[in-house]
Amino acid sequence: MSRERLSVVVTRRLPEAVETRMSELFDVRLREDDTPMTRAELVDAVKTADVLVPTLNDEIDASLIAQGSERLKLIANYGAGVDHIDVHTARQRGVLVSNTPGVLTDDTADMTMALILAVTRRIPEGLSVMQKSEWGGWAPTALLGGRIAGRRLGILGMGRIGQAVARRAAAFGMQIHYHNRRRLRPETEEELEATWWESLDQMVSRMDVISVNCPSTPSTFHLMNARRLKLMKPSSVIVNTSRGEVIDENALTRMIRASEIAGAGLDVYEHGINVNPRLRELPNVVLLPHMGSATLEGRIEMGEKVIINIKTFGDGHRPPDQVVPAML
Ligand code: DGY
Repeated sequence: MSRERLSVVVTRRLPEAVETRMSELFDVRLREDDTPMTRAELVDAVKTADVLVPTLNDEIDASLIAQGSERLKLIANYGAGVDHIDVHTARQRGVLVSNTPGVLTDDTADMTMALILAVTRRIPEGLSVMQKSEWGGWAPTALLGGRIAGRRLGILGMGRIGQAVARRAAAFGMQIHYHNRRRLRPETEEELEATWWESLDQMVSRMDVISVNCPSTPSTFHLMNARRLKLMKPSSVIVNTSRGEVIDENALTRMIRASEIAGAGLDVYEHGINVNPRLRELPNVVLLPHMGSATLEGRIEMGEKVIINIKTFGDGHRPPDQVVPAML
């Protein structure tokens, strides 16, 4: 790269500290209002920038990448998941892609535990009683949930976040099981006291809680489809802090309504903000607006990762968090 400052376009408002640092380092165009860019704005961005900094709300597909000018060389995603970016096409056109792994692991794992507890201990129902001033005092049979200690947790996707969930859940006394494309090393399995299931079907049918922690890829689309959801025990619950596309949301909704699954805690949805309206009506379903990584610390660290990726690239090296198609 030349010694000139890189021209960087950021598609969304970022924490102030991150925007300030970017302005010091790059010729950066920041977003003024906190709304996603329109398609036309994205097209303009890829035509004019050396580096695009998108978020998971931006569809960086083949057609958008094809409209990029020769100078577009890096897509430095603000986030870990890259399912909204056509990494293959970017590579073919010589555009590098990087992401921000690692820094949102603990926050997302914390939120996974929060959802497991919220669903099994009926926290939103308790909150609602208090907010509506309906509390008549302690009662031996009021709002009884289930104890999580001793329950079997099946983690679907045992990467960084899955393992962080395992550590937390073990501290709560849960028994850890997992399904992952690749089995963990024996010493990691031993440390986590985790049992590997080669067959997802078999794991799903024996668990009390399923936690979805795998990325969204063509091979994980509807991994929890209607057939597999049917294998879950009627007393079991499912939580998802990864990507909505991994679960068939309509099938899940139908089954919870039919009491074939005991509940769900969801932070992500198959169709983004278009959440199945029936899900919202269910008392045993806890819905959050994709806030698994939403801590100020985490979001600043994500920004720092983006900056390091851009700077390293600008200095003529491979960005440390480069994503290559083989990783997906
Ligand atoms: C990511 O970075 O992909 C997360 O989903 C954001 O919370």
